[in-house]
Amino acid sequence: MSRCVIVGSGAREHALAYGLAKSAEVIVTPGNDGIAAHGLTCVSTPATELDADLFVVGPEAPLVAGLADQLRAQGKTVVGPGAVGAQLEGSKSYMKEFFTAAGIPTAAYGSFREETSAFEFLSTMKPPYVIKTDGLAAGKGVLVTSDLDEARRDVQEKLSGAAFGDAGTTVVIEEGLVGEECSFHVLSDGTNTIALAPSQDFKRVGDGDSGANTGGMGAYAPMNKMTGEQVFDIMRDIVTPTMHELKRRGIDFRGVLYAGVMLTATGPKLLEYNVRFGDPETEVLVPLLGDKLFDLLLRVGEGCLDGATASWSGAGAAVTVVLASEGYPQNPRTGDVIEGLGPDGQLATPNEHVVVFHAGTKSDDQGRFVTNGGRVLAVTGFGDDLATARERAYQGAGLITFRGSVRRGDIALVATQGET
Ligand code: AMP
Ligand code: GLY
Repeated sequence: MSRCVIVGSGAREHALAYGLAKSAEVIVTPGNDGIAAHGLTCVSTPATELDADLFVVGPEAPLVAGLADQLRAQGKTVVGPGAVGAQLEGSKSYMKEFFTAAGIPTAAYGSFREETSAFEFLSTMKPPYVIKTDGLAAGKGVLVTSDLDEARRDVQEKLSGAAFGDAGTTVVIEEGLVGEECSFHVLSDGTNTIALAPSQDFKRVGDGDSGANTGGMGAYAPMNKMTGEQVFDIMRDIVTPTMHELKRRGIDFRGVLYAGVMLTATGPKLLEYNVRFGDPETEVLVPLLGDKLFDLLLRVGEGCLDGATASWSGAGAAVTVVLASEGYPQNPRTGDVIEGLGPDGQLATPNEHVVVFHAGTKSDDQGRFVTNGGRVLAVTGFGDDLATARERAYQGAGLITFRGSVRRGDIALVATQGET
């Protein structure tokens, strides 16, 4: 049996391990107690000291730091771009410059290191104003506001380093785009691409998209209101030019391009690229791939995706609901006992249509799971259609309790109301 190493420690890596384990022996480094309880091997040995047929790097930070380059230099087969390709996510100003060079439709923008020119540019923009930190900020470095004073204050805080340290000392100010947002994941072997099911995630902490931005409170796939024509347009206007531009720059991008796309009245526009699987999108994309994940990712790493397919039609639907700690995202509490899980970290009352992916959990000395981070669990339900998947996800989530847990009640609600 082939062996696969997954780098990371969250619910995304749990979902990847769960999907890859259908056809390979998996090792997660470092993983977490909940992943290990699920029968998936977790080790603390660094990836560079492990042997496997395939290495999949989950989070962006090690990619930006060059882990994929290091592994490739050791002759290993890797899913994830090298440090240069990872700049597409690691630096928003690099990303926007790349979009312009490639002719990709995106929001108008300016990039600034000092206040006067930033304020001048702001005064030429119409609301909503969008202010971003240049570097990595775990999905929390973006302010969207129609209040000019708030926008100016945010620019000040980011430029001074008060808000995000060095990651924030260059700001990108963007035109606010209006429309439905889509998480569009594409596998790339450097030349060929295939799209996974379009999905949507829910970034705000509260129902109705209220409250603070988070890493993501839930997701569903496929995005049923997306048309075949829109998928075609994204491939033609965004993905194809991206591949040409990567080639032109000599970047052999073998990994996941996760495009954050706004479906505007004038066509899809690219908000951002991530250079890895989305979290929590992975928790709904993996179940739709059945046992195809290992073969697809191996082809990505080996550069031979040509002829592969990842069709999602007929694969059903999945919905994931994130359970977060009290105080998330500002001040998450940890150490609360989680009720409702069995020794394997899955529902104590098993349901074959529900999987519990562990993000911030650990086992205490009495063998109970306790909270150990902001996002604690992602509870995924699947079924033939979104409404069934949603019902199962919420049923599962309802069986799990811990003090002050934060969860949204409206994940995939509008999408299922639209379902016929
Ligand atoms: P990002 O970290 O770039 O993904 O931004 C986080 C969220 O802010 C996105 O998912 C959007 O909901 C919102 N956002 C980012 N850029 C824009 C924009 N130009 N117009 C409107 N909303 C945006
Ligand atoms: N779902 C947001 C992210 O993975 O960045």
